[in-house]
Amino acid sequence: MEALINSLYLISVVLLIVGLRRLSSPATARSGNLVAAGGMGIAILASLITPLEQGDNNYLIILIALVIGTLIGLVMSNRVAMTAMPELVSLFNGLGGACAVAISMIELYQYQSVFAGQEEGVVNLGKHATTQLAMLIGGIAFTGSLIAYGKLAGKIKDWRFSYTGFLNIGLLLIIIGFIAYRLFLPDASFVLPAIILLLALGYGVTFVMPIGGADMPVVISLLNAFTGVAAALAGIIYDNQLMLIGGILVGSSGTILTVLMCNAMNRSLLNVIIGGFGGSVASGRDEGERVVKEASSNDVAIMLRYSSTVVVVPGYGMAVAQAQKVCKELDNLLSVNGVNVYYAIHPVAGRMPGHMNVLLAEADVPYPKLLDLDDANELLKETDVTLVVGANDVVNPAALDDPSSPIYGMPILEILKSKNVIVLKRSMSAGYSGIENPLFFHEKTKMLFGDAKGSIQSLVDEVKQMG
Ligand code: TAP
Repeated sequence: MEALINSLYLISVVLLIVGLRRLSSPATARSGNLVAAGGMGIAILASLITPLEQGDNNYLIILIALVIGTLIGLVMSNRVAMTAMPELVSLFNGLGGACAVAISMIELYQYQSVFAGQEEGVVNLGKHATTQLAMLIGGIAFTGSLIAYGKLAGKIKDWRFSYTGFLNIGLLLIIIGFIAYRLFLPDASFVLPAIILLLALGYGVTFVMPIGGADMPVVISLLNAFTGVAAALAGIIYDNQLMLIGGILVGSSGTILTVLMCNAMNRSLLNVIIGGFGGSVASGRDEGERVVKEASSNDVAIMLRYSSTVVVVPGYGMAVAQAQKVCKELDNLLSVNGVNVYYAIHPVAGRMPGHMNVLLAEADVPYPKLLDLDDANELLKETDVTLVVGANDVVNPAALDDPSSPIYGMPILEILKSKNVIVLKRSMSAGYSGIENPLFFHEKTKMLFGDAKGSIQSLVDEVKQMG
């Protein structure tokens, strides 16, 4: 039986790694997800037969928990809107943290009888420390993720006062002090572990509360890494290699993703955590008289129809407007008329990693048409029209040439290299960073105001009329 369980664990680890690898390209991401889900299914199966080996039988409780969890997961995943995906990820991540807390609390509770001398055995220092750390990190991931969810859903506002940094460092030091005290002077009471848990839960709240609401995707990725570490620690507690490897995979991929997001925004993690991004910030330069040129859908349709190369730059607004399918329809019409249409994807366009890839995949846009930042910037030199669909920060030229701008240094899509720029958005309001965009006043730029879906639909109608 043990050999069977270990073989199943091995298969599931391999599937998790292969699945993760396949997630790195849009072409293989869907199957990667299925492969990883299969790996998780096999892991659950292996865990289900483990009690048989140990002679335990809690199958009724396990079955009830499985059915409830599966139903909640199915309903929530089916109901969630694409734009609310980061919220769902955050909630699920929080539940992972809660699992680590539950596991470590049960273990800590069982150590009590050993400390009280009622039970034979030894709780060694390493195991005791690992269990307390799993509880601490899991607790932070749990409440932190719930606050992140609340902020993304607009249910919780940012809350910051001058000394939040000191409060958090102080709180963390107190928790570490209690953990160390408990390690070296364990007693049979459960009071201290309970206090450590409450403080860890509180730290999750005070850690995430001051962080700007729009920075939540980065924070969620960080908390995701925390949950992975907590799961890996739980794997050490139970001497379960699958949990350990799974936790390491989540922890390391979450960390890599956090770093990649910070790099793509040209910000340090510390800068994200202590905030300071957002609010309505105008460019530091005196721009003099600035004129916004508005275009009609008829003007834009003519420009597009008679172009040789058109590059679409999707952004968060495309997700809000759900304009991806009508955008593909426009692409089809233009392509039939000999126009080469490509999509320039900025790594942090939208509100979650791969947001634009997911949207465009939903609309069946072929992968070869999707260009990454470098390839897109190369092609933009030969592009007749760049069609910006609800993107703002990722095309803000202040990142290139205005050292006073908060986003100075962030790699952007250099769309002013193309001959003409058309921006589709509803108003002149700023994007995520709250920074004004000089692109909108540039001589090459024309604005087509309105909801992106409606605007593109009118372009489709105009191009159709041109025959
Ligand atoms: P943003 O800079 O947020 O701009 C989105 C634009 O879409 C807004 O200016 C808005 O203007 C427009 N818009 C909203 N709804 C629209 C609709 N229905 N129709 C047409 N336009 C609409 O988006 P971006 O360029 O994609 O940049 C993403 C930002 O998020 C970056 O600053 C990035 O650093 C940040 N961020 C991203 C991530 C990830 S992982 N993607 C993580 C953390 C932070 P109107 O209101 O005038 O329409």
